[in-house]
Amino acid sequence: MTSSEQIFNTLVLPYLNHAVRTYESGYASVTDIDAAMRFGCGYPKGPLTVVDEIGVAQVRDLLAERYAETGDHLHQPADLLEKLAAEGRTFADEAAAAAGGAAPEFKHEIAKVGVVGTGTMASGIVQVFAQAGYDVVYVGRSQEKLDGVVGYITKNLDRAIAKGKGTEEGKAELLGRLTGATTREALADVDIVVEAIAEDLELKLELFRDLDRIVKQGAILATTTSSLPITKLGEATARPGDVIGMHFFNPAPVMKLVEVITTPATSAEVDETTRALTAKVGKVGVSAGDRSGFIVNLLLFPYLNDAVKLAEGGEELATIDAAIKETAGFPMGPFELLDVVGNDVSLAIQKELFGEFGEPGFAPAATLEAKVAEGKLGRKTGEGFHTY
Ligand code: CAA
Repeated sequence: MTSSEQIFNTLVLPYLNHAVRTYESGYASVTDIDAAMRFGCGYPKGPLTVVDEIGVAQVRDLLAERYAETGDHLHQPADLLEKLAAEGRTFADEAAAAAGGAAPEFKHEIAKVGVVGTGTMASGIVQVFAQAGYDVVYVGRSQEKLDGVVGYITKNLDRAIAKGKGTEEGKAELLGRLTGATTREALADVDIVVEAIAEDLELKLELFRDLDRIVKQGAILATTTSSLPITKLGEATARPGDVIGMHFFNPAPVMKLVEVITTPATSAEVDETTRALTAKVGKVGVSAGDRSGFIVNLLLFPYLNDAVKLAEGGEELATIDAAIKETAGFPMGPFELLDVVGNDVSLAIQKELFGEFGEPGFAPAATLEAKVAEGKLGRKTGEGFHTY
């Protein structure tokens, strides 16, 4: 029987180390890494704040113990932990030294928003923009799929009304801002398009070529891809400077994070407007470059994959879920979250990360592969790690 503390050390310490290395590599700031995990995953604190709270030297020592057991490079304390411990500095000091930067401003006028897609993410994103007062044109392949978007939003608004957090009038007004369309031509005059179609490069390339043909010049073309190269989507158009990533989290109306992903071609104005828009719709934006996993998935999925490997060693799923919620304060245990995200999506992301970084420790857990092969994808199929 493993104690909660051992489960924390096995799953959470490597995640903290990974966060330190992500900062150390210059990929993202202390503030953005912490905000990403708080607002993208609902964690009570960001990983670098947690390192400060446990103590930089203590985290280094605990990792060194773990590294001595496993020999896994991912458990070897990051060099920066050694350095900060030696200097008596913290991540809060690092964040304070980097503080500054004015709030982003709109460099483009955004009045009308387009969304492409009718799945869970697209539906949530339509709701987010309409809730913030924007007129939204959303495009799907059939009337039935368009009705599904209205159904999703109506259900959410009805739940809010039942809790006394909304009114029938407010709902009618919000739904009145939506226009569904089954042809992309309806996007001709929108100021920004956010696409949330299937995570398939060929499909997205075809879409971006089409958006380039249809949407007015000067509009922003955004993708909510979590794993495909945004640079390639930009190159499919004659206006790569207007192409950017806006990575929302599931469920989009609830999770407050948007990762704003610029490619080397994205213009500074498009970046700033997208960050201003993110704030305007009530979300917290963090900035990162076009690389597999961005911030959140890079830190989240290896931890989820480690949890599957721990269970393969004989630990009970419910024990792991409970220990993580108790010791780390995460809102869901790893298996509960895997079932929400979908094992197919999780496996695809883990494969991407393994491919990009080549870390042996990122190799997808055998059980994750098996769940997908068996069609046990999570809540959406009624069974994943848990049964629903
Ligand atoms: N759509 C809209 N609203 C929803 C919702 C949904 N699907 N699910 C819950 N809500 C709302 C509820 O109505 C409630 O709203 P109010 O506070 O206004 O009443 C609020 O969210 C909290 O819901 P509950 O009290 O029912 O449930 P909870 O307290 O257990 O919270 C949760 C649910 C917000 C999802 C929480 O468990 C959580 O934060 N989980 C972590 C989710 C996470 O990590 N997501 C990221 C996954 S990775 C990803 O998305 C990236 C990728 O590329 C795959």
